[in-house]
Amino acid sequence: MIYMDCAASALQRPPAVGKAVLYALDSFGNPSRGAHSPSLEASRLVYGAREKLAGLLGFSSPERLSFTHNATEALNIAINGIFQNGGHCISTVCEHNSVLRPLYRCARLHGTELTLIGADGEGSISCSDIEKAIRNDTKAIVITHSSNVTGNVTDISAISDIARRHGLLLVVDGAQTAGCFPVDIEGDGIDIFCFSGHKGLMAPQGTGGIYIREGVELPPLKTGGSGIQSFNEEHPSSMPEAHEAGTLNSHGIAGLDASLDFIAQKGIKAIYKREKELSEHFYGEAEKIKGVKLYGSFGGERTAVVSLNIGDLYSAETADILWNRYSICVRAGAHCAPLMHRALDTEKRGAVRFSFSYYNTEKEIEFALGALRSIAEDKI
Ligand code: ALA
Repeated sequence: MIYMDCAASALQRPPAVGKAVLYALDSFGNPSRGAHSPSLEASRLVYGAREKLAGLLGFSSPERLSFTHNATEALNIAINGIFQNGGHCISTVCEHNSVLRPLYRCARLHGTELTLIGADGEGSISCSDIEKAIRNDTKAIVITHSSNVTGNVTDISAISDIARRHGLLLVVDGAQTAGCFPVDIEGDGIDIFCFSGHKGLMAPQGTGGIYIREGVELPPLKTGGSGIQSFNEEHPSSMPEAHEAGTLNSHGIAGLDASLDFIAQKGIKAIYKREKELSEHFYGEAEKIKGVKLYGSFGGERTAVVSLNIGDLYSAETADILWNRYSICVRAGAHCAPLMHRALDTEKRGAVRFSFSYYNTEKEIEFALGALRSIAEDKI
């Protein structure tokens, strides 16, 4: 089996991740809920993981990071918090439903107005279109760091410059970049960064987080136990507890902590370079195959995501052949990013997405290219 669906979820992980989860299952009490060793051990690990994330993602105060169950929960905290009283939001057609659906709901419930910046045929957006869309009541720009369909990386520092000049919050969906692309939250002036643990970070599913810059306060999405201020009827507003109601997934965070050690040891730049080399070779050869159409912009910065179609085949048909005949796992269909597919004219048949990780090999890339060549020869 060859796994090339890493933008959906990591499958191969550093071996230390599973070991750390098993150890935590057998050893951890409830983090921040006790003074006995099992509870303290869990609390210390959770705090250590916050520190490691601060180092990896480029922010100086670890307590500005709340753990969530995934990027979707983090984006819901950000979007519902900012637009609870309406206002105008600028976002793009490149977004995943984890951004679009909370925004549509804010539009229905709170009268939030939405401008979605369009993309060109390669799925790229223009910064000047973003600046032109700013209104007096614009509160925030909410944007993906990298499209889960095309792999195009957004020029975050240019957009941050626009946000700063106009006094807007910049919310970045880092689901596709955390752990596999260098992120510099403070250097790039990002106000809110949302991410999942189970993709580039190679941690267990059910892990993720939200970084919120000091000075930005968002109401909690969920309220409940926090381990502090038990007699207060209101959920604490201090970070990180503000967005961590209920028992944390410390077992999953133990796995995340181990994968953060692995990423620190290899170096994020080396991981990015490795994935870039694999995907550059893949799309460089794939585009030479007669009948293959690639989607995305291949000149700029990218994550290791390559979407394509072959001839007139539906993406699901190609993905089925890849799985049934070649044991290659890819994603087909609409990838939860409907407007991106509309912009790429793949609304009806979707796209076949190959997404690589540090663990893929050159041999696997060659095998997948061979499979594409055979399918194209058979079907075109
Ligand atoms: N958002 C994930 C993907 O793109 C699930 O596949």
